[in-house]
Parts: sequence; C-alpha cells; structure tokens
Amino acid sequence: MKLNQCLQASGSVRRRAAIGASAAVLGLTAVLGTGLVSAANADDPAALSGVILTVGSSESQRVVSWYASANTAQVVEVAPTSSLVAGEFPSDAVTFPATVAANSVNGGFNGHATIDGLQEDTAYSYRAGAEGSWSPTYAFKTQDFEGDFDFLFFGDPQIGAGPSVASDGAGWADTVNVASAANPDAELFVSGGDQVETANVESQWDAFLAPTQLRSYPWAPTIGNHDVGGKAYEQHFWTPNTDRSAAFYTGASNSGGDYWYIYKDVLFIDLNSNAYASGSDAAHLQYVTDVINAHGGAAKYTVLVYHHSIYSPASHANDNDAKIRRQDFPTTFSNLGVDLVLQGHDHAYSRSYLLKNGQKANPDEQPGAAEVEQGPGGVVYVTGNSASGSKYYALTNPVAGEFGPDPLDNSAGRKRHYANSVESQENKRSYVKVEVRHDQLVVEDVRSEVSPNGAVGSTIDKVAIRPYHGEGQSIQVDVPQAGPGEFGWAIDGDNSLVDLGEAAEDTGFFLASGDINPITVTDTRTSGAAWAVNGQVTDFQDGDKTFSSKYLGWQPHVFAEGAGAAAGDPIESGFSTGTGLSVSRTLGSAAAGHALGDAELGADLNLKFPTSIDKGNYRSTLTITAVS
Ligand SMILES: [Fe+2]
Repeated sequence: MKLNQCLQASGSVRRRAAIGASAAVLGLTAVLGTGLVSAANADDPAALSGVILTVGSSESQRVVSWYASANTAQVVEVAPTSSLVAGEFPSDAVTFPATVAANSVNGGFNGHATIDGLQEDTAYSYRAGAEGSWSPTYAFKTQDFEGDFDFLFFGDPQIGAGPSVASDGAGWADTVNVASAANPDAELFVSGGDQVETANVESQWDAFLAPTQLRSYPWAPTIGNHDVGGKAYEQHFWTPNTDRSAAFYTGASNSGGDYWYIYKDVLFIDLNSNAYASGSDAAHLQYVTDVINAHGGAAKYTVLVYHHSIYSPASHANDNDAKIRRQDFPTTFSNLGVDLVLQGHDHAYSRSYLLKNGQKANPDEQPGAAEVEQGPGGVVYVTGNSASGSKYYALTNPVAGEFGPDPLDNSAGRKRHYANSVESQENKRSYVKVEVRHDQLVVEDVRSEVSPNGAVGSTIDKVAIRPYHGEGQSIQVDVPQAGPGEFGWAIDGDNSLVDLGEAAEDTGFFLASGDINPITVTDTRTSGAAWAVNGQVTDFQDGDKTFSSKYLGWQPHVFAEGAGAAAGDPIESGFSTGTGLSVSRTLGSAAAGHALGDAELGADLNLKFPTSIDKGNYRSTLTITAVS
C-alpha cells in the first residue's frame, strides 16, 4: 500500500534581476505575424473598431483583436504605463505586428496581434493600428505570475435575445461593472458562450463589446450555439493554441475550434460544443486527453469550458446532445483528473455534486455542501446563469429514466436532477467567481442584480472544492504466521496539501519548513511482527522547472505511542552533503514482539536549497510505504 502526500514549496523564491528594470519591461520575443501583413499605405489609414483584449497562451501573453477599415500594416504598441509621458508612448515601446485579413461578414478587415514577454506586477498601456491611425490607448495590468488568483465566469450574455439590444447591452454592462468593481484584481473573464443572439449581427457585437473592461481584463472566449453560425465570432476573437480540425467545426462557413491555455498553474481547455455529430464528441475527448497528457503536468488544476451544459437544470436538461454527452463525457473527464467543468446554455444556475464517471462520488455528500473533498475522479460541473438578463429558463422537473430526480430531494414540488447539489433560478443576473487557491478551488455564484433573495454582490451558492493529491496504490503485505488482527496504516483526516509556504532567504540558501499529514499505524495482529513505515519524495517541479528532492530532510516523531512505534532517525537536507529524502527513509518502525494497538506518526520537514533555483511554485510527492 502506498499513500501519497503532495508537498508544495510556494511563493517567490528569487526574482530575476531583470524584473523591474525599465530596459527589460517586455521580453525580446515579439511574435511575428504569420498571416497577411500588407504593406503600409500612409494615404489610406485604417479606422479601427471593436478592440478587445483576450487571453494568450500563458499569463505573460495577451491577444488584441479588432476590426479595421483598410488592409494596412498594423501593430499593437505596448509600454509600461509608467513610461508614458502626457499620454505619449516612449520611443522604446515594443510593437507586435498584426495579422490582418479580409472580414468575410460585413466587409472591411479584422486584425489581431499577440503581446508576448509581459513581466509580472506591471501596469501596461497599449494601442492598436499604425502611426496616424491609432486606436485610443487602453490599459491592463499583470500580477504575480505564481500563486493564487481569481477569475470570473459569465454565462450567456446573448445580446439580442431579450427585449432589445439596448436593454440586453445595459444588463450586460451592469454585470461587468458590478463584477469588476467587486473583483478589481480578477485576472480573467471566462465566457460561457453565446456572446450574441445572432451570429453575424454586428449591432449585437457592438453592444457586447461596449464595456470598457473588455479592453483591460482578458476575455477567454467560448463559442455558443448562437455564435456559431458565421465567422464573426472568430473574427472578433483570436484564440491561442487552437485546433481547427474539421471535427471541431459545424461547417466551413461557421466559427469553431477547440483551444487551450495555461494561466498560473490552471490548464484551461475550451471546446466548441456545437460540434457533436459525426464523431466530433470522440474528437473532443481525444483533444482533451492529448492536451492534458501533454500539458497537464505543468498545471495544478484542469478546468474545462464549453457551452452546452450536460447537467442542465432547466429547458435543455434532456436535449439530445446532453443525453448523449452524459454518457460520453464524464468517465473520460474523471479518468483525466479534470477538476471543474464550466458550462452555459441553460440560462439557469446549477452546481453538481462531485461526480465520478457521471455518478455521485460520495453518497454522503449533502445538497448545497459548502465544502467537498474531491477524491480520485471527482469532478464538479457548473452551469452559469445569464450575465445580461436577456433570457432565463425555468427549472424543469427531472424525467425518470433520463435525467432523473435526486433521491435526497424531499421537497414536495419540483425536485432537483440527480447530479445537481444546487439548482437556482431567480430570473436575475449573476456571474460565477472562481478563487484558485493552493489547496482549493472556491466556486461562488454571485448576484449582479438585486433579487428578493439578496442584494447585488450577495451569494447564491458557494462551494470549496478541495482537490485530490494522488492515488493510493496497494502493495502486497506478507504477514507470516498471522494470528487474528490486522496491520494497516492511513493518513489521518483528509490528505490536504503539505504547504511549506514561501521560502525565506538566508545567506546563500533558502529555507522552508512544514509538517507532513500525520499517519496512523494500526497493528492488532497477535504475532507482534516487526513493521516499518517509510517515506520518499520526488523532485520538486513547477512546469518544466525542477530541483532535487535531496534538499528535503525530516525529523520524525511519534505523536501517539502504541504498536511498539519508534521514530525514525532525523534526516538532514542534502544541501551540503547527503541525499535527504530522495531515497527511502524510515518514518517509524517497531521491532518484533511489540504490543498491539495504534500509533500516530508525523514529521517536521526542512527544505534547504540553493538560491540559484528559479522562482516558482514547486510541488513534490511524498510516497509513504509500509512493510511488515
Ligand atoms: Fe445557448
């Protein structure tokens, strides 16, 4: 039997000297446009509109997309805001060439450029266009590239679905205002799809793009069924790492594609759920599998985003695509260790129980639980309500044999669907806030419009998802001449992250410390056979950065005596000499003939490592094995 504990040494280790130096405000990695970049034509400056800031492939990138009246050479110019003088960009501002292409929807052109090499904790100003025809100057900020962050998820603005484009746009703008005012440091705005009602109607796009925050907070687009029927979605939003295979499209004249990005240790994968026929769902699953296999190791959480909720609480609960996907998707998501799935389309809110392979993972989980322990394969599925108020759907009755009722719902009237811990419809606007923390994801549905149930900013639903840090494995335990009784061991309580916190700098080295999660050993065998519990750690890793596990040492303790337990020898960090916990070490043991009973074992951890290690949020796995 093996039990793993996840260790983390987090926070700033050492900031590279270049950070904050004005000469290095942007890296030297300006991305060259790969598409059509025409020759400049100073006689015909392009007028720009529809500028939006969207997510790049990492926290050090942003993408800017826009519409242009002419196919001139265009760029995005970027500089730290602190270097602008009276609104003028400095001479050393960095420019990123744009890709400009004909706009197939309404004439004109569309452009985009990827801003790369951003530094952390920096306020930037940017503008798009060219000399003589710049867009207004906009601003965004970066934050620490490691550690905790918040992002906001917006369901179906669907501008044009309500009484008028103007009223839908006003509701959308108010939600964005309320959400950004309450969460000024949120780092991403993630879309649940259906930005507009009618794919290529630009007056709807204009209203969607109107909030100024969409030029300061990066939008992470998701395509809905109302966006898909034309090319306007793709022409408004350029997305990174996008697979444009035919399986991810519903037709050549439509928008589509699946894409991914990693933002501060979260791997986001965004799917075009409109494509589901003719093998597309299998292709989506293969895409998710391939992306997680290739990039999941560089992230600590995986979040999937797509439009068509598979656990809809309202009018789409038994749509054909949802019925099929409730069969096809969940087992793969569980097997891949997906943490959270964000969905839209049903204009109502739902939060699932922890589902493993589509079934409730823990029969004891209660409706509306404020905290859930993930366990292996546990996935939470959320459906966002309307962010604009343009349309709401009433919650529907579960259909037995299809998406049936939750047996824990004893209410007399409409019942919840079996998968959902919470279903809510107040016919008021809301958004979902997600707090990414070192040892939990906190999902909160927040009112952006006053409701009889609460004020603006009040909580409709909130849950802390505590992640699973590894799978226990069994080893053969050979117990000679066993009498009655058992020998066993377990991690006490939940196997939460062992967080060593931010390392402290000393002369020539860093130090961090913590405690392992205590382990209880039980031995009720009458044989009194000898036993030992051992531990070993893997190298510390953050993405492709790593340092040796030898730098970790420990001081074992017996917290509660019994079963003959004696603490193992202290092991020094291998900073100066030795191999630390890079090889198996004894946490506790007992000689043959010991008394029966329980013991609780623990250890203080001491991490001492060189200051040459790069800044990062490193993790390692402690594997506990027991032999007898
Ligand atoms: Fe939809």
